[in-house]
Amino acid sequence: MKKYEQVFENNRAWVESVKKEDANFFEKLAKGQTPEFLYIGCSDSRVPANVIMGLEPGDVFVHRNIANVVDNIDVNANSVIQYAVENLGVKYVVICGHYGCGGVQAAMQPVDMGLMNGWLRNVRDVYRIHRDELNSITDEDARYRRLIELNVQEQCIQVIKSSWVQKSFLKNGYPTVHGWVYDLADGLLKDLEIDFRKHLEGIREIYKLDF
Ligand code: CO
Repeated sequence: MKKYEQVFENNRAWVESVKKEDANFFEKLAKGQTPEFLYIGCSDSRVPANVIMGLEPGDVFVHRNIANVVDNIDVNANSVIQYAVENLGVKYVVICGHYGCGGVQAAMQPVDMGLMNGWLRNVRDVYRIHRDELNSITDEDARYRRLIELNVQEQCIQVIKSSWVQKSFLKNGYPTVHGWVYDLADGLLKDLEIDFRKHLEGIREIYKLDF
């Protein structure tokens, strides 16, 4: 059987197994969603949000793109963030990068990538901001891994800059913003323990958007 047809077989088998556990599973989910997580990750096929978090349908609102970037004029990503914060009331916004990220690696090369230049510039900007630290790392793989972590940190700051996150956090105490890195080599998630409050206070001098 071709892989394409196999998918529909898989789907029917999955529906049966879910119903065996909980006969009303789909009925309940069809009524609405109240996910606690907004997950913003890389499009990489090896990093599926729900699977690595061990969570079910309905648990995670997801946005993925190349190198888990939050560009300030990206209508797509910013619409997702606004909806997740204002309408769904998510408790956590997670930026999840991953070691071995091809997007970040491409941004480290002096190569014209066509349409992707503008997108990967977001990652090159992260390199520029942290140039001193990154250039001091002599081992190329260690520098690559560190850029992946710093990219997650900077994309977290991008999220914290948004008015919806600032307003909701000051009013409700959530969402908090978290940076994770997934390791393809062992399947484990690492919490970078981004200091959300410190970053929020740090950026509000310039990016304060609630008056
Ligand atoms: Co990637």
